[in-house]
Amino acid sequence: MRRKLVAGNWKSNGSLASVKALAGALAEGSGAIHAEVVACAPFVFLPAVVEALSHSPVRVGAQNLSEFGPGAFTGEVHAEMLADVGCEYVIVGHSERRSLLGESDQQVARKLAHAIAAGLRPILCVGETLEHRTAGCAREVVLRQLNAVGELLGFPGVDGFVVAYEPVWAIGTGQSASPAQVQEAHGWIRDWLRTVVGHAAGSIRVLYGGSVTPMNAAGLFACPDIDGALVGGASLNANDFVSICQSADRA
Ligand code: PGA
Repeated sequence: MRRKLVAGNWKSNGSLASVKALAGALAEGSGAIHAEVVACAPFVFLPAVVEALSHSPVRVGAQNLSEFGPGAFTGEVHAEMLADVGCEYVIVGHSERRSLLGESDQQVARKLAHAIAAGLRPILCVGETLEHRTAGCAREVVLRQLNAVGELLGFPGVDGFVVAYEPVWAIGTGQSASPAQVQEAHGWIRDWLRTVVGHAAGSIRVLYGGSVTPMNAAGLFACPDIDGALVGGASLNANDFVSICQSADRA
């Protein structure tokens, strides 16, 4: 039985004061939650969020990391820095980074390798655009994104590895994928995991992301292969986010 995981992706939002308040509310609301809960904050707020959540079960994650290690890479934040300030998770290859900032499958794979080497738990995002889905090649796109990381890493160890299926057309649009669509895509991902890591695939969590709200969470979490959610907009409201975590507990 995989423990559900609900991760909030705060994206590029908030001020130091508002982020501290959000983390505080989350610490208070998450006490009785059994699912694993993660808050992914902007880089500059990470130490404050780690501090605010230090007496709570909520883990802290970053939203991105450098594809390089330490060195002359102006403006980059590398994996060991994240681990050093108390991050346990890191989102890798979010579609906004792929589409708006031009991250390639190969860059995503290098970031993943650095995250794993530093002992961080990567949440690898994959997902197709609306054009891909309409053209009937959603599966092919998801597998291409997965194969890029498989080729670089080969996956000898998968401890803490998490995959998030996030169809681009569902992110921030208010139009979540249906539980059936998500279950189907998670099947492609689970099959792929089986071919690369065999038995261990059964312990890897596959999350869904894309307009998850307190209204649709229960229906999604009821599917056998949906092990939690990566939540954007709704994670900025502590009550909504905790309500989604409670749905995960009831599933
Ligand atoms: P959303 O974002 O919940 O606002 O759709 C999800 C994500 O981008 O991870």
